Amino acid sequence: MKKNIRDFNLNNKKVLIRCDFNVPIKDGKIVDDNRIVMSLPTIKYALGNNAKVILFSHLGRVKEEADLAKNDLAPVAARLSELLDKEVVFVPVTRGEELENAIKNMNPRDVILVQNTRYEDLDGKKESSNDPELAKYWASLGDVFINDAFGTVHRAHASNVGIASNLEEVGVGFLVEKELTELEKLDNPERPFTLILGGSKVSDKIGVIENLIKKCDYLLIGGGMAFTFLKAKGTNIGTSVLDEENLEFAKKMINEYGNKIILPGDVNAFKEFNNESSNRIVNLNELEEDEMGLDIGPETVKTFSYIISTSKTVFWNGPLGVYEFSKCTKGTEDVLKALVDSHATTILGGGDIVAAAANLGYKDKVTHASTGGGATLEYMEGKELPGISCIPEA
Ligand code: 3PG
Repeated sequence: MKKNIRDFNLNNKKVLIRCDFNVPIKDGKIVDDNRIVMSLPTIKYALGNNAKVILFSHLGRVKEEADLAKNDLAPVAARLSELLDKEVVFVPVTRGEELENAIKNMNPRDVILVQNTRYEDLDGKKESSNDPELAKYWASLGDVFINDAFGTVHRAHASNVGIASNLEEVGVGFLVEKELTELEKLDNPERPFTLILGGSKVSDKIGVIENLIKKCDYLLIGGGMAFTFLKAKGTNIGTSVLDEENLEFAKKMINEYGNKIILPGDVNAFKEFNNESSNRIVNLNELEEDEMGLDIGPETVKTFSYIISTSKTVFWNGPLGVYEFSKCTKGTEDVLKALVDSHATTILGGGDIVAAAANLGYKDKVTHASTGGGATLEYMEGKELPGISCIPEA
């Protein structure tokens, strides 16, 4: 077990908490505040224990000057302040006198949010390359460091691994603790264990498939990536997306584990890759040469739903259709319904699938909806997560 925020005396201490406030923001408005809401237990615990709370997070990716304004963390401070029902002082810089003075003037139970840590990337990628001077500087601002940014634990950046390496009192927060507890259930899953993978690219999922194909009982594949596997089986895919580079990998998986891999039998087919194009539900053997599948069809939903109903554990990453097209959400939504109706332990691996579950009011009906997309996938790939391994054992 990793050291945890409960293991430290926080009274009157400056507690640096790394959160993952990388939330979607459109026209200055937060579209989905799930990650902020999920950070509250740790922040409230620190405040309840009389700490001075200094929050860090990245937002988006900062490669050039033009990325600064659109990745300003100010809207997050405003939303956090509403959720905590108390003032959150936003410091619009990542270092220097303004930040240091703001911290010097803090009283216990005050909260500061520091500007987007990736503003430091503009000058030689200091945050993302875990620059030693920056890590040391940020660590010098506090007494205790808590990593509660699960979505970022697969990154070794200055604001997580760097700060952790420069302070004595270092632990995880409640969000990271819960994520690990839930994901660890997948190390020895109750069987049958079903893995559902979607999304467009096979390449994003190769690590997970390689790591889990032996362990799972069923692998249900939807989304664009299904067509590479269908092609590997010799099925007609019309103009559906094909990941040529990974066709050999798909063939190998089909040859070795074909009995576990369940692919779509029917699709919602479109003439063009846009939501306005004419579309129809069709069995793949009747798909025209100029049609592409952009969602799974109702027969596939039935098959997937049946397998889910017989499973004891289900892990799902990636939507089963082009989820941003309103005509292509049905497959994902119907299978999500089957998931929440099942008696299985159900874990959603971040990203679009969690957003879809939240939209349908299903997020609280699954066993666990992860806040980390990339981080969860890397966990499932069996990779070491630097943001976790830098935290000492309790
Ligand atoms: C995420 O949204 O997956 C995390 O916040 C990490 O973001 P990144 O992929 O830009 O590092």
